[in-house]
Amino acid sequence: MMNIAYKAWSAFKGEDVLVFFAFQDENPRILGLDKDPKAKQGLLNIAKADGFKAKGQETLSIRPADQRPAQRVILAGLGKRNDFTNEVLRKAAGSAFKAADRFHLEHFSTRLPEIAKGKADMNAEIQALAEGLMLGQYRYDKYRKVPEDSVSKLTRVTFYGTVDTAIAQKAVERARIFSQAVILARDLVNEPPSVMNPERLEQEALKLNRKPVSVRVFDRQALEELGMGGILGVGAGSSVSPRLIELHYKPSAKPKKRIALVGKGITFDSGGLSLKPPQHMETMKTDMAGSATVLGVFSALAALKIPAEVYGYMAVAENMPGGRATKPGDILRTHKGKTIEVLNTDAEGRIVLADALAYAASKEPNQIIDVATLTGACVVALGSSVTGVLGNTPRLVQGILAAGEKSGEKFWEMPLVKEYEQDIRSKIADVKNIGSRRGEAGTIIGALFLKEFVDNKPWVHLDIAGPAWIDSDQPYCPAGATGHPVRTLLHYLDLQR
Ligand code: BES
Ligand code: MN
Ligand code: ZN
Repeated sequence: MMNIAYKAWSAFKGEDVLVFFAFQDENPRILGLDKDPKAKQGLLNIAKADGFKAKGQETLSIRPADQRPAQRVILAGLGKRNDFTNEVLRKAAGSAFKAADRFHLEHFSTRLPEIAKGKADMNAEIQALAEGLMLGQYRYDKYRKVPEDSVSKLTRVTFYGTVDTAIAQKAVERARIFSQAVILARDLVNEPPSVMNPERLEQEALKLNRKPVSVRVFDRQALEELGMGGILGVGAGSSVSPRLIELHYKPSAKPKKRIALVGKGITFDSGGLSLKPPQHMETMKTDMAGSATVLGVFSALAALKIPAEVYGYMAVAENMPGGRATKPGDILRTHKGKTIEVLNTDAEGRIVLADALAYAASKEPNQIIDVATLTGACVVALGSSVTGVLGNTPRLVQGILAAGEKSGEKFWEMPLVKEYEQDIRSKIADVKNIGSRRGEAGTIIGALFLKEFVDNKPWVHLDIAGPAWIDSDQPYCPAGATGHPVRTLLHYLDLQR
């Protein structure tokens, strides 16, 4: 990952490439060049001549005739001032990175836009800018030959600005921690499913087993002893055994809050005997994105000095239709003792989460947050950019929505409709794993099922079936795994003091 240094704008002496951000006003309003009106006017003239409007994510590369203020200047549009958010800046930074990286340099510089007023807001702004660059450089190229001239050589960026050095450095450091956590999650999800199987996911979790984080693995035998028939049942059709992975982060000072994160970790979802059609299976290596989120978050807790005590649970299995696979009609007994009638083996996420949530609840945490690529219905309802949020505690739901405002990741609350609870009642078991009215309210039904296993603890469920994966390149995320919602959860945990 690139290094970002900070220097005073007054010390700027000309560089190879310098990025400026600009608002889309009547004319593009270039930010941070007021001390050099002549150079500014020169850039504006070129911008106008080239039809640069400073729309969001629009960029323009300029070679100023007098080489002022730099050999080359990149203008990066931020759209209209009134619509500005840090997410706009994150995207603009991703686009600016792409424009600057075309020069194949090891180093370029960026003038901070310095739009925010207060200290905290300035910190968030600089963090967003740095995240846009760091995450924008991410590629998943390990399995293909990439032409030499399209590999980023960038190792170093300099931010020039007029803010306190300490503020800038802290913001950049936070961006680095956040981005590394996101990149870990992206890498885990992008890896092919036969590589990132339950065994390998366990190895990846064990890499974090270093103070103040400890990792414990419940293997098949341990799952049997704990009565986790849900995880065992979902993993039964695979030749790689399922597992429950527990992570535990202990902060240095006595914590006020204890929070459990639970992630769905289906390393491949074929649907099981209720086999998916081929097209629906194409991206089902993403079905462990919830677990990847948990690992991404845990990788950053110590560096961020998160004050809460955090438990992490990864419910890991491969959903396959092998000879021992769970069959529609089977009944599984979960850790909690509740039984599940399995009518569709493709509704497997809720089954593994049933055991993991019940186990998490038994640790008596103050809050439980689960993250899961749970339902295709959520993609139908909210599309591929928005996470569905359903919870039994409004304060917790609000906390997630507020953290989402900080990260720029999108969330939308859906209701846990009490009347629908009867739809998951089974005639021969305690619950069944699909609703009675097929095709209706799939995301709500999935969440109501999970609610059966949280023992009335404050709980919120994040259905990331849409945002975990993106089909086309985005300003700061190439097509593939997104690492969503790692940054939101880090902001959330950071606020739990
Ligand atoms: N992993 C899928 C959900 C999913 C779909 C995630 C699309 C990402 C993109 C989940 O296990 C599943 O198959 N859910 C079923 C539930 C149904 C059988 C009640 C679905 O959504 O069709
Ligand atoms: Mn499924
Ligand atoms: Zn699934």
